[in-house]
Amino acid sequence: KETLNSCVYYKIEHPKFAATISEFGGQLLSFTPKDNQNEPQNLLWLSESSPLDGSKPIRGGVPLCWPWFGPAQGDFVGEPQHGYIRSVPWSLINIVESDTSVEMIMQPNLTKELSQSLGLDVQVRYVFADTISIELTTTNTSTEAKPLSQAIHTYFALDNVNDHKVLGLNQIRYLDKLDNAAEVIQDGDVVITEHTDRVYLTAQDKVSLLNGNKNMDILGQGHDSIVVWNPWQENAKNMVDFDDQGYTNMICIEMANTQGLVLQPQQVHKLVQLIKP
Ligand code: BG6
Repeated sequence: KETLNSCVYYKIEHPKFAATISEFGGQLLSFTPKDNQNEPQNLLWLSESSPLDGSKPIRGGVPLCWPWFGPAQGDFVGEPQHGYIRSVPWSLINIVESDTSVEMIMQPNLTKELSQSLGLDVQVRYVFADTISIELTTTNTSTEAKPLSQAIHTYFALDNVNDHKVLGLNQIRYLDKLDNAAEVIQDGDVVITEHTDRVYLTAQDKVSLLNGNKNMDILGQGHDSIVVWNPWQENAKNMVDFDDQGYTNMICIEMANTQGLVLQPQQVHKLVQLIKP
């Protein structure tokens, strides 16, 4: 445990990997496998200009968006984009270490009033090994059906945005958020060459990210969408917390629920992203 600018970070140094998890946002910030064959490399992108003092959500790593994805709607209009939990401190509930893995369970410190008015509880379970498993579990604790949208908003590090590909989305329908959510069918692999903000409407369990000559599988469960985002040059410049050149080294690929998931009383839902370098 380390404190920096009054924020707490968990630093894990394991023979097989190193990882940093921020208490603020309950957010994974870095993950570096140590496989002896390759130069150790952080798989996640983190903006150097992101404040890390808890004043705003951390730009990079794996922000968790809950209990909505994108702008707040309906009764919640005016509340923060992507929900509450990326902007509050979390508590560590349990940590279990073994020769091969470290498991952490964390929960956001939401006020009682907020938890009650939401009628939803959430926790994250991380399992770090030679893979990263992120499991976001939501329980409807109320007596009414509750809508839920969410995302595991992973910022993957790219060596160079000019040499990457996302495989596995060919012929999938997506909503183009930059064109009034117009529906488009993906033609071929996804290669980002400009501002891109797309919600792929698919519950398929795997895409792959080709980063230069390295391949990484990204598996999902419990999602109805896969979001792909890169702000590109001008928008990166316009965000104070996004390094100006950062867009050349990142891509967000997010397992998400964006299409009207509803949890019945006592229903439990798991959204999972498994990253296999
Ligand atoms: C993506 C959304 O998931 O997150 C984009 O699809 C959004 O529309 C992006 O711009 C970043 O959001 P934020 O709130 O972290 O700036």
